[in-house]
Amino acid sequence: MLTAMASDHGGFRLKADLVTFVRELGYEVEDLGCFDENTVDYPDFGQAVAQKVSSGEVERGILICGTGIGMSIVANKFPGVRAALVSHVYAARMAREHNNANILVMGGRIVGLGLAQEIVKAWLEAEFQGGRHLKRLEKIEAVERRNFRV
Ligand code: RB5
Repeated sequence: MLTAMASDHGGFRLKADLVTFVRELGYEVEDLGCFDENTVDYPDFGQAVAQKVSSGEVERGILICGTGIGMSIVANKFPGVRAALVSHVYAARMAREHNNANILVMGGRIVGLGLAQEIVKAWLEAEFQGGRHLKRLEKIEAVERRNFRV
Protein backbone atom coordinates (compact mmCIF):
# COMPACT_ATOMS: atom_id res chain seq x y z
CA MET A 1 0.00 0.00 0.00
CA LEU A 2 1.28 3.44 -0.99
CA THR A 3 1.33 6.06 1.77
CA ALA A 4 2.00 9.74 1.04
CA MET A 5 3.65 11.67 3.86
CA ALA A 6 4.41 15.35 4.40
CA SER A 7 5.12 17.88 7.12
CA ASP A 8 5.96 21.50 7.67
CA HIS A 9 9.07 22.60 9.58
CA GLY A 10 7.30 21.93 12.91
CA GLY A 11 6.86 18.28 11.96
CA PHE A 12 9.97 17.77 9.86
CA ARG A 13 12.07 15.78 12.34
CA LEU A 14 9.26 13.43 13.32
CA LYS A 15 8.19 12.98 9.69
CA ALA A 16 11.75 12.12 8.62
CA ASP A 17 11.97 9.42 11.31
CA LEU A 18 8.50 8.10 10.49
CA VAL A 19 9.21 7.84 6.76
CA THR A 20 12.01 5.41 7.66
CA PHE A 21 9.79 3.59 10.17
CA VAL A 22 6.86 3.16 7.76
CA ARG A 23 9.21 1.86 5.06
CA GLU A 24 10.69 -0.61 7.58
CA LEU A 25 7.14 -1.84 8.25
CA GLY A 26 7.01 -2.79 4.57
CA TYR A 27 4.90 0.03 3.15
CA GLU A 28 5.82 2.11 0.11
CA VAL A 29 6.15 5.79 1.04
CA GLU A 30 6.01 8.87 -1.15
CA ASP A 31 7.70 11.68 0.81
CA LEU A 32 6.26 15.01 -0.35
CA GLY A 33 8.42 17.21 1.91
CA CYS A 34 9.34 19.40 3.53
CA PHE A 35 12.98 18.36 3.45
CA ASP A 36 14.60 20.59 6.08
CA GLU A 37 13.70 22.77 9.05
CA ASN A 38 13.39 26.05 7.14
CA THR A 39 10.07 27.72 7.78
CA VAL A 40 7.32 26.79 5.32
CA ASP A 41 3.51 27.04 5.25
CA TYR A 42 1.68 23.89 6.34
CA PRO A 43 -1.22 24.32 3.82
CA ASP A 44 1.23 23.84 0.94
CA PHE A 45 2.32 20.44 2.24
CA GLY A 46 -1.03 19.39 3.66
CA GLN A 47 -2.76 19.87 0.35
CA ALA A 48 -0.09 17.91 -1.52
CA VAL A 49 -0.99 14.78 0.45
CA ALA A 50 -4.73 15.48 0.73
CA GLN A 51 -5.04 15.95 -3.04
CA LYS A 52 -3.52 12.54 -3.69
CA VAL A 53 -5.79 10.85 -1.17
CA SER A 54 -8.87 12.73 -2.40
CA SER A 55 -8.20 11.73 -6.03
CA GLY A 56 -7.51 8.10 -5.10
CA GLU A 57 -3.92 8.29 -6.33
CA VAL A 58 -2.77 7.04 -2.92
CA GLU A 59 -4.75 5.08 -0.35
CA ARG A 60 -3.40 6.67 2.84
CA GLY A 61 -1.62 9.80 3.99
CA ILE A 62 0.28 10.92 7.07
CA LEU A 63 0.65 14.62 7.89
CA ILE A 64 2.63 16.28 10.66
CA CYS A 65 2.92 19.91 11.70
CA GLY A 66 3.74 21.42 15.08
CA THR A 67 0.38 20.65 16.67
CA GLY A 68 -1.30 18.73 13.85
CA ILE A 69 -4.15 21.22 13.93
CA GLY A 70 -3.32 23.19 10.78
CA MET A 71 -2.72 20.04 8.76
CA SER A 72 -6.05 18.60 9.95
CA ILE A 73 -7.92 21.71 8.94
CA VAL A 74 -6.48 21.85 5.43
CA ALA A 75 -6.73 18.10 4.76
CA ASN A 76 -10.40 17.97 5.73
CA LYS A 77 -11.22 20.58 3.07
CA PHE A 78 -10.74 17.89 0.40
CA PRO A 79 -13.67 15.72 -0.72
CA GLY A 80 -13.41 12.17 0.51
CA VAL A 81 -10.65 12.95 2.97
CA ARG A 82 -11.19 11.85 6.55
CA ALA A 83 -8.17 13.21 8.41
CA ALA A 84 -7.83 12.29 12.09
CA LEU A 85 -5.62 14.22 14.50
CA VAL A 86 -4.36 11.60 16.93
CA SER A 87 -2.11 11.53 19.99
CA HIS A 88 -3.15 8.21 21.58
CA VAL A 89 -2.78 4.63 20.31
CA TYR A 90 -6.43 3.82 21.10
CA ALA A 91 -7.63 6.76 19.03
CA ALA A 92 -5.37 5.69 16.16
CA ARG A 93 -7.06 2.28 16.06
CA MET A 94 -10.52 3.79 16.38
CA ALA A 95 -9.74 6.27 13.60
CA ARG A 96 -9.58 3.27 11.25
CA GLU A 97 -12.15 0.93 12.83
CA HIS A 98 -14.91 3.50 13.28
CA ASN A 99 -14.02 6.49 11.08
CA ASN A 100 -12.11 4.84 8.22
CA ALA A 101 -9.68 7.76 8.46
CA ASN A 102 -7.56 7.90 5.32
CA ILE A 103 -5.13 10.53 6.66
CA LEU A 104 -3.41 10.31 10.04
CA VAL A 105 -2.30 13.63 11.51
CA MET A 106 0.04 14.17 14.45
CA GLY A 107 1.74 17.07 16.17
CA GLY A 108 5.52 16.92 15.95
CA ARG A 109 5.75 19.16 19.02
CA ILE A 110 3.25 17.00 20.92
CA VAL A 111 4.07 13.32 20.42
CA GLY A 112 7.52 11.79 20.80
CA LEU A 113 8.96 9.31 18.32
CA GLY A 114 8.17 6.16 20.33
CA LEU A 115 4.52 7.04 20.77
CA ALA A 116 4.25 8.25 17.18
CA GLN A 117 5.58 4.91 15.94
CA GLU A 118 2.98 3.02 18.00
CA ILE A 119 0.25 5.33 16.70
CA VAL A 120 1.31 4.88 13.06
CA LYS A 121 1.56 1.08 13.38
CA ALA A 122 -1.87 0.82 15.05
CA TRP A 123 -3.45 3.03 12.39
CA LEU A 124 -1.84 1.23 9.44
CA GLU A 125 -2.78 -2.21 10.73
CA ALA A 126 -6.36 -1.57 11.88
CA GLU A 127 -9.31 -2.30 9.55
CA PHE A 128 -12.52 -0.36 9.06
CA GLN A 129 -15.37 -2.27 10.71
CA GLY A 130 -18.17 -1.10 8.40
CA GLY A 131 -21.71 -1.85 9.61
CA ARG A 132 -23.21 0.95 11.66
CA HIS A 133 -20.07 3.01 11.08
CA LEU A 134 -20.56 2.94 7.30
CA LYS A 135 -23.97 4.56 7.66
CA ARG A 136 -22.34 7.42 9.56
CA LEU A 137 -19.66 7.91 6.92
CA GLU A 138 -22.39 8.04 4.29
CA LYS A 139 -23.94 10.89 6.27
CA ILE A 140 -20.60 12.72 6.17
CA GLU A 141 -20.49 12.19 2.39
CA ALA A 142 -23.95 13.74 2.16
CA VAL A 143 -22.67 16.77 4.07
CA GLU A 144 -19.79 17.04 1.57
CA ARG A 145 -22.18 16.88 -1.38
CA ARG A 146 -24.33 19.64 0.09
CA ASN A 147 -21.48 21.95 1.10
CA PHE A 148 -18.54 21.22 -1.20
CA ARG A 149 -20.40 20.98 -4.56
CA VAL A 150 -18.93 17.56 -5.34
C1 RB5 B 1 4.27 26.43 12.70
O1 RB5 B 1 4.92 27.25 13.61
C2 RB5 B 1 2.97 25.90 13.31
O2 RB5 B 1 2.02 26.91 13.34
C3 RB5 B 1 2.46 24.71 12.53
O3 RB5 B 1 3.44 23.72 12.53
C4 RB5 B 1 1.21 24.05 13.06
O4 RB5 B 1 1.33 23.75 14.41
C5 RB5 B 1 -0.05 24.69 12.71
O5 RB5 B 1 -1.15 24.22 13.04
